[in-house]
Formats: sequence, C-alpha cells, structure tokens
Amino acid sequence: MTIAIDGPVGAGKSTIAQGVADALGVLHLDTGAMYRAMGLKALRAGIDPKDAAAAEALCAETDISVEMGANGQKTLLDGEDVSSLIRTAEVSAAASDVSTVKAVRRRMVALQQACAKKASMVVDGRDIGTVVLPDASFKFYLTASPEVRAKRRYLEMQQKGEPGSYEEVLAAVIARDDQDMHREADPLRRADDAFLIDSSNLTLDETIQAMLDVIREAEK
Ligand code: DC
Repeated sequence: MTIAIDGPVGAGKSTIAQGVADALGVLHLDTGAMYRAMGLKALRAGIDPKDAAAAEALCAETDISVEMGANGQKTLLDGEDVSSLIRTAEVSAAASDVSTVKAVRRRMVALQQACAKKASMVVDGRDIGTVVLPDASFKFYLTASPEVRAKRRYLEMQQKGEPGSYEEVLAAVIARDDQDMHREADPLRRADDAFLIDSSNLTLDETIQAMLDVIREAEK
C-alpha cells in the first residue's frame, strides 16, 4: 500500500504523514528531506542552487539516502546524518531552489520510487501523487491558508527560540508556495484523483483522522 500526501509548505504534511503511517503500522518517507539534503550540499559547495548545470554536476557526485525506522527518518548526505542540519530557513530556501532543476528532480524521483517499492509506506512531498507514485493506493492534497501555515511555523519557531517575525515567516511561505507551484518541472498541484483536505480549521489529530476515515471507508 502506498499513500501519497502532497501540499504546500507548512500544511503539516510531515507530522500528519507520520501520524497516518503510525496508525496503519507502515513506514513514512519524507521526500522534502532529500531535496533539503541536496540544498545543504549546494550551500556547502558554494554554488547557486538554481544554476541547473552546476546543480546537475553536483547532484551526480552526491549520495543521498534515507533510513526509515520506528523513530522516524534519518537523512544521509554522503553518509553523514544531516537530519537536524537540514531544518534551517537557509536550507529550506536552497531546497526549494535546487528542486527547480530537472536533473535533480529526476534523480530524487528515481530514489523515491525505489524506496516505495520496498514496503508499504506513506510518502509526503509536492509531486508524489502526480509524478512519483501516480498509482498510489490513496492520494491526499493537504492544504491550509498561507496565514494559518505561517502562524503554525511562527509558533514552532518561538517554541524553539528561533528569531524571526510573523511577517517574515508569512513572506517566506508565500515566496516558497509561488516557486513550488510555478516552477516548470513537476510543479506542486493537486492530482485529479487526490482527496482535498483543508486543515485551516482542523487540529493535527482531526486531520490524521480525516485521512484514516477515507482509507478505512475504502477498505470496507
Ligand atoms: O517539504 P519540505 O518543506 O521539506 O520541502 C523542501 C523543498 O523541497 C520544497 O520547497 C520543495 C521541494 N520538494 C519538491 O520539490 N518535491 C518534493 N517531493 C518534496 C519537496
């Protein structure tokens, strides 16, 4: 069984995907972490992540892999565990930039498809239902208003003691939405057969439950 969850930044995809995976007793693959690892590599190498030729060459000599387990996903960049390092605002922007490069996408999509063949899993990202797993057993498009998504991210940053204002977070959310939805290669869009879930007025648990209801109803 494969379950695809796509949606814009801050919709809660990763947490919700993990919750659905736990409830169903399957694995969770966070594909954004793979683009983030590539973004980190580009930053370290000092290249412009949007420079297609440079990003393609760098990607060809980069090893990105994931280890999925009960305690979540470990993301490895050339063998180094970068799971925490890839969660900064700088890496978020570099990941969005590098994900516009077609050759990088081709490589990541192939890695993700190989992963999904190995076991039942919930896979979250931007192009899972449309490109990576067009035949997924279930597809969800998870969204919420930009203001709600920015507020959630801002509260998370405050809890972690990270700097930044709500206005800055909202501007970053809107900029990343724009780039992810309007890039030429595999832009973020809802697959025709994806269930739309707007979590603006739902808690995490309610959102997980809404997905589980769809899955269990279909399995009756
Ligand atoms: O889900 P995330 O915020 O960790 O993703 C980081 C960036 O990676 C996001 O801005 C767009 C890109 N991405 C993508 O293009 N395709 C995916 N399947 C997952 C993420």
